[in-house]
Amino acid sequence: WWSLRCLWCCAFSAAQWCYQSQYSCDDTCRDPIHWSAQFPSCGGLRQSPINIVTSKVHVNSALPPFNFIGHTDAINITVENKGHSAHFALPQSVRLTGGALPGHYRAAQFHFHWGGNGRPGSEHTIDGERYPMELHIVHIKEPYGSLAEAEHDMAGIALLAFLFEETSDDYPPLDAVIAALGRVGTVIPNFQLSDIIPSAKDLHSYYRYVGSMTTPGCEQAVAWTVFHRTLSISSRQVSSYKEIQCRFWTGQPMTDIFRPTQPLDGRVVYRSKASAALTSVTRLWLGVLPVVLGTTCLIH
Ligand SMILES: *[C@@H]1O[C@H](CO)[C@@H](O)[C@H](O)[C@H]1NC(C)=O
Ligand SMILES: [Zn+2]
Repeated sequence: WWSLRCLWCCAFSAAQWCYQSQYSCDDTCRDPIHWSAQFPSCGGLRQSPINIVTSKVHVNSALPPFNFIGHTDAINITVENKGHSAHFALPQSVRLTGGALPGHYRAAQFHFHWGGNGRPGSEHTIDGERYPMELHIVHIKEPYGSLAEAEHDMAGIALLAFLFEETSDDYPPLDAVIAALGRVGTVIPNFQLSDIIPSAKDLHSYYRYVGSMTTPGCEQAVAWTVFHRTLSISSRQVSSYKEIQCRFWTGQPMTDIFRPTQPLDGRVVYRSKASAALTSVTRLWLGVLPVVLGTTCLIH
């Protein structure tokens, strides 16, 4: 069954890109090292993700906090399997300004990167350390309506990244959201982005650099913000990675969905100048999230 599935995939995948974890099944898809053969930007000089070397970041006092708009509004979000990850679509009422970004940005979607079988799976690493998981919230600069329109602007996309830390604490703010998703299928009603990330006033401290989308076409249009403050997941959640039933378009389990870190190529990583008191971790209980993603993906 599996080999048939792989053959079926191969017939359609010669021009497809894939993560390293998919490569063994389907040797005609393009793994990250070969993305640039089909997507030239992936071989560019401002690529993401990167390893952030904290001893080399430049502290910059001109990096103010963000203003989040609509983060506490109750919204309906839809979950979509994009073949390489699951996206949670956000309405245009969710926005941000500030953070030294040149304009107003509308949220488009958020998604996660993770590992598998206990392996960490963040895209950005800090001093070489890979974190268990990473949340990306994608925003498009106004008045652009899509990534295609924004891709020629170095700051056409604002990507907010949160790294997750493994803790023993469970905390249930997402319980209702998870349960609702199970009932409705692909829509989570009455979701608030503030359920999963802290408010802007608690996010003064962050890293900033110019980079790219981390999936093809690797558009070099992203102002990256990697928050110093981590979100937490329980150890139980980390161990439940292996139960993820989400599948790639190749039919394999959706694990290790992160791109390897890319060279800095002369770029500077800045760090906002903020108080060092922001060490407390937002407790975030994501114990059921893999199950949710699995359910969603099996529907598609
Ligand atoms: C969410 O969906 C429900 C049911 O379809 C609808 O009544 C409600 O107005 C929607 N809320 C928003 C903010 O769109
Ligand atoms: Zn991402």
